[in-house]
Amino acid sequence: MRTQVCIIGGGPSGLLLGQLLHLSGIDTIVLERQSRAYVKGRIRAGVLENGTCSLLEKAGVGMRLRTEGFVHNGTFIAAAGRQFRIDFQKHTGKSVTVYGQTEVTRDLYEAREDHGGIIIDEGQHVLPCNVTTKSPYVTYEKNGATHRIDCDYVIGCDGFHGISRQTIPDAVRSEFEKVYPFGWLGVLSQTPPVSHELIYANHERGFALCSMRNENLSRYYIQTPLSDHVDHWSDSRFWDELKQRIPEAAADTLITGESLEKSIAPLRSFICEPMRWGSLFLVGDAAHIVPPTGAKGLNLAFSDVHYLSEALIAFYAGDGDEGLERYSKTALARVWKASRFSWWMTTTLHRFPDQGDFSQRMQEAEIAYLETSSAAQTALAENYVGLAF
Ligand code: APR
Ligand code: PHB
Repeated sequence: MRTQVCIIGGGPSGLLLGQLLHLSGIDTIVLERQSRAYVKGRIRAGVLENGTCSLLEKAGVGMRLRTEGFVHNGTFIAAAGRQFRIDFQKHTGKSVTVYGQTEVTRDLYEAREDHGGIIIDEGQHVLPCNVTTKSPYVTYEKNGATHRIDCDYVIGCDGFHGISRQTIPDAVRSEFEKVYPFGWLGVLSQTPPVSHELIYANHERGFALCSMRNENLSRYYIQTPLSDHVDHWSDSRFWDELKQRIPEAAADTLITGESLEKSIAPLRSFICEPMRWGSLFLVGDAAHIVPPTGAKGLNLAFSDVHYLSEALIAFYAGDGDEGLERYSKTALARVWKASRFSWWMTTTLHRFPDQGDFSQRMQEAEIAYLETSSAAQTALAENYVGLAF
């Protein structure tokens, strides 16, 4: 087989990149390790930046987003028994849209299928080869046979645990990582959201977040120790703990129900430099991970897709490879800024096991400053709705 761009990974990054390139007449093949049902069934975050929504519209997958997404013009921060609102519209003139990543992935798969996109599911032992030459290729195994795809470029959209990042030699790769000393226990429940906007709560028992998917599907999270296990958490124990951490008014009106999904995820910040090695480009979680506190994971993956799709479209249009040459530096500039914001939100809102009195007071002062300063609220708002591409 031969194609122009071989994309490893059929998650949000790979699907959106494939769709954008297809709309510009560029041939792609997506190679995905899991089954289509597995990928479509993943439960992930659900806050889309302004720029992400525009990109999905450009890819022709904005219809359900427009009709079923919930536009949020602000968010609530709660701490020490107080709650205050950050008004995105007032500080930035922009908003975010709450629309589950599961839905984004479904919309993208439907678009790729409608346009005859080639997505090879359950391809095993995918291996990028010859990426430092102008004739790279990718091999994979399926149905007991080994297959080869010759291409111009290999794009690693294969997430944090993929093969692409490992293809860049250790001597070339620089990795920056911070593992946080806690995780998030998340619950999805068929219940009306407790609030019309998200509530990020800093509490002495630990962080909590009240989010949603639609008017009868809610998503809640509480900070848990790294030693914790989801089997230790019955639904009733979860609801009792959540009520202790969120503002009293919310706790009093919270409608609880059976968990449709319940899982614990670790929190880490991770960035790999560079995001290009010869004919191989890294996109999304393959290159960087952010803690979910800033709701940046999917949005950051999509800004990588924006930069790389523009560069590849220019190249195949005969306008040169300057965009491809600049990709890693351009993408990393935005990755580091979004990582800073995600680290700041995490550090400001969570309780750290070894946090001394001074650090605790600094956290309280940070939140008090945020509550009373328009400048501080503008800074949070402009990062949350998404910095310019
Ligand atoms: N070969 C083929 N496919 C692979 C391989 C491999 N060796 N390794 C991983 N994959 C697939 C995974 O099965 C997954 O479907 O690559 C895809 C990577 O998707 P994501 O991990 O979702 O990463 P990305 O597309 O960059 O999206 C980032 O999704 O997972 C969230 O938190 C993440 O919100 C962020 C967004
Ligand atoms: C979610 O709805 O899953 C969600 C929202 C905001 C975050 C993280 C997760 O910061």
